[in-house]
Amino acid sequence: MKIIYIIPICLLVFLESCSTKQPAEATLDTDSMLNYCVEKVKMSIADLPDAENLPRNIYPDQKKWNKVGIHDWTSGFWPGLLWYAYEASGDATILKNAEKYTAPLKGVLDVPVDNHDLGFMLFCSFGNGYRLEKDPAYHDLLLKAADSLATLYNPTVGTILSWPAMREKMNWPHNTIIDNMINLELLFWASKNGGDPELYNIAVNHAKRSMETLIRSDYSTYHVAVFDTTDGHFIKGVTHQGYANDSQWARGQSWGIYGYTMCFKETQDKTFLQTAQQLADVFINRLPADGIPYWDFDDPEIPNAPKDASAAAVAASGMLELSKFVEDKELKTKYRNAAIDLMTKLSTPQYLSGDKNQAFLLHSTGHKPNGTEIDASIIYADYYYLEALMRLKKMQDAGNLAGM
Ligand code: GLY
Repeated sequence: MKIIYIIPICLLVFLESCSTKQPAEATLDTDSMLNYCVEKVKMSIADLPDAENLPRNIYPDQKKWNKVGIHDWTSGFWPGLLWYAYEASGDATILKNAEKYTAPLKGVLDVPVDNHDLGFMLFCSFGNGYRLEKDPAYHDLLLKAADSLATLYNPTVGTILSWPAMREKMNWPHNTIIDNMINLELLFWASKNGGDPELYNIAVNHAKRSMETLIRSDYSTYHVAVFDTTDGHFIKGVTHQGYANDSQWARGQSWGIYGYTMCFKETQDKTFLQTAQQLADVFINRLPADGIPYWDFDDPEIPNAPKDASAAAVAASGMLELSKFVEDKELKTKYRNAAIDLMTKLSTPQYLSGDKNQAFLLHSTGHKPNGTEIDASIIYADYYYLEALMRLKKMQDAGNLAGM
């Protein structure tokens, strides 16, 4: 008879120990994935024509990069990716190419600033270059870039004008997009590295006003906030690249996670950290069964809608940082494991391009409503994938994943 009672008690003790245990640490073979990236970078370098042509995308029926010029908003990702690949490998040829592809981007500042993307273009390229090489010319250019970006700031609204061209075209008198959060890093950097200290306040004001307007009460995000220029009031939240005005565009949510985490790192303002967590929670909770987001969480075509590997890569890189700053141990593990899960799924044959094309990853979506870059390889997916691998590698090398 006794055995009947003993077994359930053992089971209870076992279940109890499971429920109080910390979640298991997720793992990923970062060395082999970094090696994969470095080898693919070397192959692309060997095939590219010149430094004025920068890889942007590869469509499903293609094998090689389609290129853009320096004024395209994605121009900084290829040189930025080269800097990360150099950091990962120490390879002298990659360093030479990182310098070579960074140099022409100085021409971005030769024309009047007409969008918020200067951070993407110049901080990913010159910013990573300066971090690694400390070239004073890179430093000067970054300060100029920050001053130029700041000219788009409207003090009445309290944010940077993201898309000047959309004022007339869309009747959006002052518009600010969630993507713009990433470009604040250039302003923070400049304010702390010899630039105008006011750049810091501009970045903080922008982040706070965006928090009030681009983030909905359920912590999903609008893509675009439209403001009145006379008194700065918020008119409406709309979309440009998402499914609908009230839907959750996946990459927008990941820009938010990444951007507010970076704002906390730069300011130590806890409201930014809390916001990053809230955005990450929504992102994690809405992930589909295979763990990689559809391009918009609310596309009614799901499960037949395209995926967006770039949103996964941006969110993974952002959540690795977030896991460092959150104090609660369980939450640290939660965000770190969520990031590693995303990276692990991206690192499977389903999402790796392997020998299918020159990129690292398949299945990103750039601008679905426009019909462009759907289910494609896109350079910023590769950039943030490699950045996340580097962040994870540094965390692993520090040997204190569990306690960070
Ligand atoms: N506008 C930047 C993006 O497509 O995410």
